[in-house]
Amino acid sequence: MSVRALLAVGVPLGAAIWAGCHRSTLLLGALAFLLLVDFLRRRRPNNYPPGPWGWPFFGNLFDMDFEQSHLSLQKFVKNYGSIFCLDFGGLHGVFVTGLPLIKEVLAEKTQSIVNRPVTPIRERIFKTNGLIMSSGQVWKEQRRFALTTLRNFGLGKKNLEERIQEEARCLCEAIEEEKGQPFDPHFKINNAVSNVICSVTFGERFEYHDVQFQELLRLLDETMCLEAGKWCQLYNMWPAIVKFLPGSHQTLFKDWKKLKSFVAQMIEKHKEDWDPEKPRDFIDAYLNEMAKYTDNTTSSFHEENLICNTLDLFFAGTETTSTTLRWGLLYMAIHPEIQEKVQAEIDHVIGQSQLPTTANRDHMPYTNAVIHEVLRMGNIVPLNVPREVSSDTTLAGYHLPKGTLVLTNLTALHTDPAKWATPDTFNPEHFLENGQFRKRDDFLPFSIGKRACLGEQLARSELFIFFTSFLQKFTFKAPANEKLSTKFRMGITLSPVSYRLCAVPPG
Ligand code: HEM
Ligand SMILES: *[C@@H]1O[C@H](CO)[C@@H](O)[C@H](O)[C@H]1NC(C)=O
Ligand SMILES: *[C@@H]1O[C@H](CO)[C@@H](O)[C@H](O)[C@H]1NC(C)=O
Repeated sequence: MSVRALLAVGVPLGAAIWAGCHRSTLLLGALAFLLLVDFLRRRRPNNYPPGPWGWPFFGNLFDMDFEQSHLSLQKFVKNYGSIFCLDFGGLHGVFVTGLPLIKEVLAEKTQSIVNRPVTPIRERIFKTNGLIMSSGQVWKEQRRFALTTLRNFGLGKKNLEERIQEEARCLCEAIEEEKGQPFDPHFKINNAVSNVICSVTFGERFEYHDVQFQELLRLLDETMCLEAGKWCQLYNMWPAIVKFLPGSHQTLFKDWKKLKSFVAQMIEKHKEDWDPEKPRDFIDAYLNEMAKYTDNTTSSFHEENLICNTLDLFFAGTETTSTTLRWGLLYMAIHPEIQEKVQAEIDHVIGQSQLPTTANRDHMPYTNAVIHEVLRMGNIVPLNVPREVSSDTTLAGYHLPKGTLVLTNLTALHTDPAKWATPDTFNPEHFLENGQFRKRDDFLPFSIGKRACLGEQLARSELFIFFTSFLQKFTFKAPANEKLSTKFRMGITLSPVSYRLCAVPPG
């Protein structure tokens, strides 16, 4: 080979090898740097609760089973006990099990564990507004205002109770139209339940065949599912990258945008005929409050927060109660002997001609126990709504720095074999003693403490009135040749997978 030929082959080859070398050194260097950054990011603080080793970048992500995240970490509860930590790529979470510690987190550490962690998903949709995910002074002001206003518009009063009765009556009529044939009750129940909170927030209800409203309910249902999905978890870990990728997180953002613009439209409509002297509903009352702070640029009462508060009430007031009712009908169809006992009690205490009221509840221990058992087995908020440490604190002797995420395992509380006779079977006797209703300490479906569910009282009235109205008018049965399952669909709440039922009128 001539020198020229050698050069012709050798020089580019050498350059290529040199460049290749160079590139891999660079890559190695970059990787080492990233690992170091990741290590520093994921380093655990001193005297932190124990937890398993995690992968670089991913932490304990692969230990989570997103199809059933509330059940997936059993081995760690076994190894580490009632408090342990996991890491999801830089986000530390502490998991708490057992009544004493859970009570301490929720109800005793009222100054230090009251914030909410804002995930990048939530940040993008709500910033730090609203009732559910806000923290600090903003949360205090908004929650106080919401509680007072809901009370003014009938929470715990007779007129709201009548609203629920009327809605239950409409819903039973709609179910009657199915003529005992198999149907999926999901969106009818959703609509009826939503109408109760809509009458408080928007001052109006929506017909069950209102196409636009049904679409909103579908969007709401879809967001529940998507936010718990893999894409959204990935977005929460690396928002700067994942935001450019296609995936179901993009659908979630679109859905919330539509929901927000629906509420914004409602607010605009309210402004047109708003009379400060006569607030008609939550939105009017909020507009009044905003007017007090027009010169105050730091006030938390502004239009964006009105939208987020209204959405929070709409969302929390719709999904939770209607999901619980869907579990209720499912369990009744699966346990006809229990359904019969409820119906016998209804016949005995209310009869066929009157509408059920919450005043009946004290005379109906069995029905009350069944509803509690539906809440226990339905387990719709399995790990509670996450809390965040607002100022450095200690728990069980461990140090929890500000910003730590805290999850309380309500599932463990509601299925502890030491406390419940048949933890995995539907059994109203859990809430009965000598035929009387029995309260249980290890039962916190609405959580406790200053951040506990704001709608508990409303939810309890709705559950009782809707549920007894259903069973007063119908017997629920599995369609012929279809087997009902209690499998759940994972989402922000646990809901039953779609099912069909027959609602058979008496006689
Ligand atoms: C069966 C029905 C319901 C269940 C099981 C339920 C459960 C819960 C739970 C576990 C929390 C978290 C509490 C905490 O962090 O300690 C919560 C918060 C909340 N719930 Fe409910 N809820 C239900 C119905 C409702 C209804 C009907 C409303 C409507 C007014 C509502 C409004 C809220 C709000 C606004 C919050 C956030 C409170 C805050 O962060 O300060 N909920 N709920
Ligand atoms: C919560 O408790 C349930 C029931 O004991 C258990 O299977 C699950 O692994 C626990 N989850 C977490 C995150 O601690
Ligand atoms: C502005 O409004 C907030 C309430 O949102 C209040 O805490 C603050 O004191 C107000 N500031 C002034 C100057 O009035």
